[in-house]
Amino acid sequence: MARTFDAVDESGKVVTGAAIIGARVPRIDGPLKTTGAAQYAADYHFERMAHAVAVQSTIPSGRIRSLDTAAAEKMPGVVLVLHHGNIGQLYRTVPGDQDATNSEVRAAFEDEIIRHWGQHVAVVIAETFEQATAAAAAVKVDYEMAPADLKTGLDGYTGQRKSVSKRGDPDAALAKAPVKLDASYITPVETHNPIELHASVAVWDGDRVTLYETSQGVVNHRVVMAQVLGLPVQNVRVVTRFLGSGFGGKLFPWPHTAMAAVAARKLGRPVKLSLNRKMMFTNVGYRPRTEQRIQLGATPDGKLLALRHDYLNVTSQLDDYDEGCGEATPYLYSVANLEITSGLVRRHMGAPMYMRGPGAVPGLYALEAAMNELADQLKMDPLQLRLINDAEKDESTGMPFSSRHLKECYTVGAKKFGWEKRTPGIGSMRRDGKIIGWGLAGASWVALSLPCTASVELCANGRVCVRCGTQDIGTGTYTVFAQVLQAKLGIPMDRIDVILGDSALPTGPMSGGSMVTGSVLNAIANACTGVMSKIVALAAATPGSPVEGADVKTLAFTQGNIHKQDASFESGASFNQVLNLARLSGLMAEGKNTPSWEDPKAKGVSLHSYGAQFVEVEWEPEIARLRVSRVVTVIDGGRIINRRAAANQVMGAVVMGVGMGLLEETVYDHRTGQPINGSMADYLMATCADSPHVDVTFLDYPDPGMGEYGARGVGEIGLAGVAPAITAAVYHATGVRVRELPVRIEDLLKSDIREV
Ligand code: MOS
Repeated sequence: MARTFDAVDESGKVVTGAAIIGARVPRIDGPLKTTGAAQYAADYHFERMAHAVAVQSTIPSGRIRSLDTAAAEKMPGVVLVLHHGNIGQLYRTVPGDQDATNSEVRAAFEDEIIRHWGQHVAVVIAETFEQATAAAAAVKVDYEMAPADLKTGLDGYTGQRKSVSKRGDPDAALAKAPVKLDASYITPVETHNPIELHASVAVWDGDRVTLYETSQGVVNHRVVMAQVLGLPVQNVRVVTRFLGSGFGGKLFPWPHTAMAAVAARKLGRPVKLSLNRKMMFTNVGYRPRTEQRIQLGATPDGKLLALRHDYLNVTSQLDDYDEGCGEATPYLYSVANLEITSGLVRRHMGAPMYMRGPGAVPGLYALEAAMNELADQLKMDPLQLRLINDAEKDESTGMPFSSRHLKECYTVGAKKFGWEKRTPGIGSMRRDGKIIGWGLAGASWVALSLPCTASVELCANGRVCVRCGTQDIGTGTYTVFAQVLQAKLGIPMDRIDVILGDSALPTGPMSGGSMVTGSVLNAIANACTGVMSKIVALAAATPGSPVEGADVKTLAFTQGNIHKQDASFESGASFNQVLNLARLSGLMAEGKNTPSWEDPKAKGVSLHSYGAQFVEVEWEPEIARLRVSRVVTVIDGGRIINRRAAANQVMGAVVMGVGMGLLEETVYDHRTGQPINGSMADYLMATCADSPHVDVTFLDYPDPGMGEYGARGVGEIGLAGVAPAITAAVYHATGVRVRELPVRIEDLLKSDIREV
């Protein structure tokens, strides 16, 4: 009988040893989460802890003329009100050092200038949360308004455009091309909506501070906060044991961390500051609006001759955030003439921030939508158009691909989906009184393995511990780390402790870019090798051990036992016996990962993940109801470490893609810059009712450029390509070409089809 922490295969058989790599292993942290024992940032409570509530700007642009805190300070329980006039010095981060920090934290409380609606202007700290909330409402701010740029559209932009990638002569090739397509695509602002709100609990001990955070990067968070607070880095510790996700919004620190830390230092007591959902729409990033023009030139039989991808994205007053929409464009197709340009448009908005699949996801929406339109123009199967333009090498760099199986993604997906049954006519496919539309698109995402260190410790109590200063954003990081320990050391899951989410641990990577699995697994494997050779040497040197005096070269480590290679592992001693004989509480080794830019197998190759998305929509023209009913997704994400967790990631991403295609959009009041749908009630996201049947397939080819396991990570790739496959399916069903996301009912009402 399988226990909760056992990995089982499809038939329910318990999987052990090396076979655990790739198995459907349940989350080892699942019981902690389902019983409520897992502590998230705002769950931390301390003696004498005070509660902070932020006060936010109600204008989009201007300055604070005066800030009256007298009434708030007299209210029950209030212990402190901080604002730019009394918060003291907050430092800027060192330029280039943490270059992805945002203006919100870089320039927090620096002056009395207001640059967006909802900017923090003060923070009230009181004995209770309710007292702080009441007093925050009593802080009076007198503003001097200045003109604000809040225009939604980015058209009319005349500023600089940066050439991101160029080869050949795209303009000349476009002019000469026998078949041309020129279309513009818009993606709206989308807001990260992780379940767990941003929160910070600050606890000082002398001049050292511990910050309980919900951070996708505890190590970086520590460095940034040390700089902002003006502390030596060793005086800051950041703890994030669990995250209720982040989607990129928690990659870098935001000002509320500094607000909590300063308040706690001034008061000499712990302070908790939690943002509410409304604040989550204004202070902690968003995926910026993009406007992208795609120009394609092709031969009449569909071979690409030229590709132009010119995009703009919104950024804030102080940031130079480039969404990177051209990320996947340079290498996805074989095309001799190509250029990508970018431009940034400033608005009086908060800082944008990476959101799941930044750059590639909105960029591939435009590129893949254009490819689908080109296929229609050519009266060609969009699948065929993809296959004949597939790239043999990365034409942007001339490098070979490390491991690319995009064609196979398409052919496997087409088979699973039943693509050959598609009839191309608009509204030509019907089922159960509904019109069916089918669409497809390609997906890609970067792969990179980052420098990091992990340690593995064998303990005298028989347990094994792995430690790394990374964190589990909710994707299954705890579990895949434990899998490597079981595979390498042969120790069962219930004797493994995975310790993450603390900046005091060996330096680990951010939970970003789908890079943790591909980076840290190699470091853990190296640490396992190191600790095995240490324990074998210790066993040979320890009086009383069954292998005392043996040549280490004749010894082996199997299922936790040190034994002679020519004898059974049961004849040896367990590592805990050896440790106890040697009077050691534990034995530890560190392992490092070789980053892609140093790994000889990765240096000269193009590293990416790929995928193909096949989407079916059901359209009921009489009531203008459209549903995404079925998605087949085939992912080439390198080796899959945990089939269950990986499928969860891709399924979740596909559902998020349904939201991107049909629902998600943050709408701002163009007079004030206030989000008018800034709540869970008003901001539409795909829910269970919107979720299609999702069929996830992994090709499972280990990437030789990604170290021992060849895993590339799968947190983001599943979102890429979903939206353009949806808009293609919508066109197929309704005849309405939507080039601005999300697809709205108003768009669908333009269909000439009025009944099935
Ligand atoms: Mo992801 S946007 O790299 O957290």
